[in-house]
Amino acid sequence: MSIYLPSSLTDTYTLQNGVRIPAIGYGTWQTPNDVTAAHVKTAIDLGYRHVDTAWGYDNEIGVGEGVRASGVKREDLFITTKHWVTFRGYQNTIDAVEDSLKRLGMDYIDLYLVHWPCVAASRPDWQEINADTWRGFEKMYKDGKLRAIGVSNYEQKHIEALAKTAEVMPMVNQLEFHPGYMQLDNIRYNQSQGILVEAWSPLGSGAVLKDETLAAIAAKYNKSVAQLCIRLSLDYGILPLPKSTNAERIAQNADVFDFEISPEDRAAIESMPTLGYSGYTPEEAPADKLAGLC
Ligand code: A2P
Repeated sequence: MSIYLPSSLTDTYTLQNGVRIPAIGYGTWQTPNDVTAAHVKTAIDLGYRHVDTAWGYDNEIGVGEGVRASGVKREDLFITTKHWVTFRGYQNTIDAVEDSLKRLGMDYIDLYLVHWPCVAASRPDWQEINADTWRGFEKMYKDGKLRAIGVSNYEQKHIEALAKTAEVMPMVNQLEFHPGYMQLDNIRYNQSQGILVEAWSPLGSGAVLKDETLAAIAAKYNKSVAQLCIRLSLDYGILPLPKSTNAERIAQNADVFDFEISPEDRAAIESMPTLGYSGYTPEEAPADKLAGLC
């Protein structure tokens, strides 16, 4: 499979329905709402055109304010938000989209994702619940409120189950991806289906940044470990969503288009032991982490 390699922040991947999505998204997980607007504006000032949020991050209001404060036209920006686990089902999903639109202060969302699948370990009727939720996604997509729809944290079995009833297949799957947790089988499955993979926690939420193997590899390219991690996503055809609340680091995280990681260094990174893994795998997480997912 040939990998598309973007060469600037405004280069785009093209989704299955033709919608174009800018190459690096500005992540907002764990950013408190009261400071989100300022950081989103900074990221947009620095050239980012894609912002990733979620109802569950509790900062959609701040994202909307930051977008308006930036002065950049809405149609020149790409905004993703996600459906939370408490909104499963057809009508709840429709209401959830309306609620996110209100919080964002927008009349459409560029990409809307199912945040977590409902899984067999939580409910025997997980397939029906996921299918019903997805019908709500399809309705809002067909109504033009959502320009593209997708999922997050879905494993192959969850996508295959959805495919039994879906009229529109997910265009994106947002997964945890960073050195020390690359889940390449899942990535390759998605890519073989034409589903664009996005990386959440591309820096392992900061946990991989002090690793010596990564530091040695990054030094060869005169780059920081953070830049190496972001480039790693791009080199695997994965759209990274780095999060930073520091202007210098927000800029640094976009300065990744002038190098490519060699096959030898990629192999060394692939063979690293598990590092920085969040513990959030829907099927395997301990019961306390699954609580509330379905
Ligand atoms: P900060 O917001 O202070 O920059 P992830 O995107 O994997 O969730 O990682 C986010 C974490 O990594 C945050 O703690 C963020 O801290 C930190 N971070 C983001 N960019 C960089 C960078 N270029 N160098 C060092 N740390 C970074």
